[in-house]
Amino acid sequence: MKFFVDTANVEDIKKANDMGVICGVTTNPSLIAKEGRDFTEVIKEIASIVDGPISGEVKATTVDADGMIKEGREIAAIHPNMVVKIPMTVEGLKAVKVLSAEGIKTNVTLIFSANQAILAANAGATYVSPFLGRLDDISQPGIELIRQIADIFDIYGYETEIIAASIRNPIHVTDCALAGADIATIPYKVIEQMTKHPLTDQGIEKFQADYKAVFGE
Ligand code: E4P
Repeated sequence: MKFFVDTANVEDIKKANDMGVICGVTTNPSLIAKEGRDFTEVIKEIASIVDGPISGEVKATTVDADGMIKEGREIAAIHPNMVVKIPMTVEGLKAVKVLSAEGIKTNVTLIFSANQAILAANAGATYVSPFLGRLDDISQPGIELIRQIADIFDIYGYETEIIAASIRNPIHVTDCALAGADIATIPYKVIEQMTKHPLTDQGIEKFQADYKAVFGE
């Protein structure tokens, strides 16, 4: 299973990239705003760190297809690895159709139903991003959505890849892997949590103690 890191923070991106566990990056308007930096400048810096798909979203205030197409072309021109992230709306689908026909990769975001995922795939989306955590937040099992989309894409042979998004904890990651997501986009904090196990820590302490008892420091 492929992992992307879900952040616009370049320090966290460097740390995840240095671990060798991620092969892409996703950002969204909230993550970009959190950094308080110019969009193009941040994206260029991210592209200089990670050699893989980097999702940059159209402006949150751009709601019409023509505007999204124009911005999508600008985002794609920043770097060959760019993927244009577009919200799941009628206007968004129109933009995906045009951009994908031009060979520009797209990631349709804010997917909360299997039907939305099918629509995005039919429009030509390279990726769909179903939001697991936000569904869990409203007491709807997000993992069921991932499973449904994976089953449907498998039945019909869609090439659109599923990026499990809105991941909040390590259990989400395992569940997404079992449910058939192609990719999980994960906050750096959760990647760190995934490395941990109390028995690993205890094992390291025991090996160190046994070694030192015989050979010293
Ligand atoms: C990534 O593509 C999504 O924008 C992100 O995972 C959303 O996460 P959140 O629901 O924790 O904001």
